[in-house]
Amino acid sequence: MNFARIEGVTLRFGDKIVLQDCTLDVKARAITCLIGLSGAGKSTILRLLNGLRTPDSGRVIVKSTDLATLKQRDLVKFRQKVGFSFQFAALFDSLTVGENVALPLRENTKMSDAEITKVVHATLESVGLENAVEQMPSELSGGMLKRVGFARAVVNNPELVLYDEPTTGLDPIITHVLTDTIKRLRRQLNGTAVVVSHDLDSIFVMADYVAMLFEGAIIEYGTVEEVRRSANPIVQQFLQGSEVGPIPL
Ligand SMILES: Nc1ncnc2c1ncn2[C@@H]1O[C@H](COP(=O)(O)OP(=O)(O)OP(=O)(O)O)[C@@H](O)[C@H]1O
Ligand SMILES: [Mg+2]
Repeated sequence: MNFARIEGVTLRFGDKIVLQDCTLDVKARAITCLIGLSGAGKSTILRLLNGLRTPDSGRVIVKSTDLATLKQRDLVKFRQKVGFSFQFAALFDSLTVGENVALPLRENTKMSDAEITKVVHATLESVGLENAVEQMPSELSGGMLKRVGFARAVVNNPELVLYDEPTTGLDPIITHVLTDTIKRLRRQLNGTAVVVSHDLDSIFVMADYVAMLFEGAIIEYGTVEEVRRSANPIVQQFLQGSEVGPIPL
């Protein structure tokens, strides 16, 4: 079953066409990984899925609702229920880790301080950072910052969590920890996740489905095994990281 669907979407920035008649299914209760060249439009697809961008044409459907039909107020409410782990951690430097993770609860719920403290602690525990609650972001390593970002993205139990390059630039061990954390969080929430990543090893470990974006559209989609066996030379060149092939450099 689909949790969300991007259907025939075209999206331009000025003269530049980023997505052209792009269709992508996001299956419910699964991890869909989105791969593609730098600048292909992967982050843009995540922004479409949480309603931060609207397509020039085509539709973005989440749980049978076309986001274009939502009134501004309902769109804001919808967005609060989608977790977003940003490409760059995007934490508030002047707030502690605990305060950063608490923000979505303070802003969007009527929970008491005591309840918030409890939920924040439990969420930090689920990403292995229960001892960092009083620390400032500047005191943390890159991998820890990412996990704080994960905690903030999932703290209000969203049905959909979007991760933009969760492991980029981190060592293989931390990458492994983060990949495991994404899988575990998805199971705990019993929800749906979309992960944009360049890190093929972690994609092969965590993805239920892989979609490859190229020149504005999804050119390959399937399970890890299906995509690895793809007969499309563009996909094969990408997976092998080869300079030789049909992809224009
Ligand atoms: N706000 C914007 N204004 C103008 N152009 C934009 C804007 N946001 C993105 N773009 C352009 O749209 C294209 C797709 O951007 P996007 O960030 O979605 O790519 P990406 O696949 O996430 O790339 P990367 O792997 O480098 O993060 C790029 O060419 C980018 O320059
Ligand atoms: Mg991006």
